[in-house]
Amino acid sequence: MTYCHPIIYVAVTAFSAEVMMIRKNVVFFRGRKRNINMNKHRIVKAAVIQVLIISLILSGCNSSGSTGSTDNTAKKMKWWQKTIAYEIYVKSFKDSDGDGTGDLKGITSELDHFKEMGVGAVWLTPCYVSPQADNGYDIADYYNIDPAYGTMEDMDNLIKEAGKRDIRIVMDLVFNHTSNENEWFLTSRQSRDNEKSDWYIWADPKEDGSAPTNWRSIFGGSAWEYDETRGQYYLHTFLPEQPDLNWADPEVRKALNDVARFWIDKGVGGFRMDAVTYIKKPDEFKDGIPDGGDGMTGIHSMTANTDGILDYLHEFKSAVVDGNDIFTVGEANGVSAEDLSQWIGEKGVFDMVFQFGLVNIDLPDETNWCNTREWTLPEFKSYFRGSLSEADSAGGWFPVFLENHDQPRSIDHFMPGEGNRIAKAKALSTLLLTMKGTPFVMQGEELGFVNVDWGSIDDYNDVSTKNHYEFALSEGYSEEEAMDAVHRFSRDSSRTPMQWDGSENAGFTTGTPWLPVYPDYDVFNCDAEKKDPDSVLNCYIALNDLRRKHSELISGDYAEIFKDDEKIFSFTRENEGKKATVFINFTPDEATYDKSCIENAECIFSTVTETEKGKLSPYGAAVYEE
Ligand code: GLC
Ligand code: MG
Repeated sequence: MTYCHPIIYVAVTAFSAEVMMIRKNVVFFRGRKRNINMNKHRIVKAAVIQVLIISLILSGCNSSGSTGSTDNTAKKMKWWQKTIAYEIYVKSFKDSDGDGTGDLKGITSELDHFKEMGVGAVWLTPCYVSPQADNGYDIADYYNIDPAYGTMEDMDNLIKEAGKRDIRIVMDLVFNHTSNENEWFLTSRQSRDNEKSDWYIWADPKEDGSAPTNWRSIFGGSAWEYDETRGQYYLHTFLPEQPDLNWADPEVRKALNDVARFWIDKGVGGFRMDAVTYIKKPDEFKDGIPDGGDGMTGIHSMTANTDGILDYLHEFKSAVVDGNDIFTVGEANGVSAEDLSQWIGEKGVFDMVFQFGLVNIDLPDETNWCNTREWTLPEFKSYFRGSLSEADSAGGWFPVFLENHDQPRSIDHFMPGEGNRIAKAKALSTLLLTMKGTPFVMQGEELGFVNVDWGSIDDYNDVSTKNHYEFALSEGYSEEEAMDAVHRFSRDSSRTPMQWDGSENAGFTTGTPWLPVYPDYDVFNCDAEKKDPDSVLNCYIALNDLRRKHSELISGDYAEIFKDDEKIFSFTRENEGKKATVFINFTPDEATYDKSCIENAECIFSTVTETEKGKLSPYGAAVYEE
């Protein structure tokens, strides 16, 4: 991944040789005039070479990004804009001690997996101390590693070993809420007047003793939980085990800033800010208009993106982030393309935000997985168009993602139904790695993973899946309809163990995996895919290579072509006289397009061996360049 201009190597070699010779001369010829003059001459020469080296380094020897690009725009880009990011679901990546749970040592042992893929940033889902009510998104201690995942020493070692490979570790900051077992909450709930009594969102019951409002939590059921000791309710946007912090209290914000600084000092490369659009609550707590048979209103509509939220985040940015060579990406459910200029770019609070427009394209209302809608390819494209143009005009940057640990697998999500799974995976990988922005690959996506379809709801682990299932039944859907929705949207699909090889449990663990390994691991595993030139993994490797060689795929402007085409997604990436045109067929049939736009271009990448201008095979993708 490290790339240095050849001139720099020559200069470095020449400089070292000069220094050695000067040293030798000084020692050997000390005191003789002729040789002192010669030394001076050489010192001047060496100084010139040194200046040359420094200016070349400053002008863009790129050692932490993944591109070998020499184009001027790419040179000015930050390391995290040029690299590929990868999400690890820590619990499922690699188990080093046979307890069936992935761990930090396991991750360290597999870092070479990222070498050829060009990954320079690895986002770890939360691995802090946690009772695991929501698989780590309920944090009991931000300053320690959960024993199931290892020790702080393992973490230090992981950061160090990753660094040797030019990979930065990205931590997940869950700052909207903690675990109900966090010391902060245990103190807060003791009385109405202790030093942390205001650290969470407490409210008195309504006159009849019921919850302060009719808000439904994102995982289902009331968003309020009664506490006997205080005689009050506390708010939880997610599970009752995840009480929301009160950001209005400056002490809370200070405590959270300290957490982030602690991790920056450890050398992490960035933060993903969990559920960050919920941190500010409205000044007044009011009932919402019921949107379900339970008489409740989804909390999202009542608290997401509340006025004033950006003040808190600006404070976080200037107190913690500014001046450090790290990036931040906010999980920003509720932030639309029009809002982007306030969230990213010159006036924004983060480097990037994950928006939900694309992943919710089939779900008008996230609370109800049974209420889906059909979508069209032009709609799919419009998400990229809208967000990219707003991000560009704000001077901000875009994270490209089709999957994460809360989403179904992209093959089933965006290319459902008939057709070859490998072709689909390759088509989607082409989109992910040639779109403008930093691509985020979800563990297993690079191997072509698909959704699980376990028989009964009891087979599922994810608490939100179980709650969605119950909600569907309570809304009058049949068991079959509820299970269909589970197969389509369950978060467990993106959380099954990583498949390393064809041995038992796919080489993930020698014990019993905490979540079943997907049965197709004999074919879809890292070892087998490495050996197969036509595998999904080798397609990712080839696409990384392509990005390095054709830097307009990293730095180039984005423009859509054939906008209204219902079958093909095509766009150009253009920079400094180089133009790449990408074509992706979203259908199980052959598709054609007007090839005049690539008349003088040559094919630089294709997901099939034979490709013809103007034609794409079923779920085929190709890139041309002129
Ligand atoms: C975010 C996480 C999700 C988690 C939730 C609560 O949406 O991505 O996995 O359950 O926040 O922390
Ligand atoms: Mg383990």
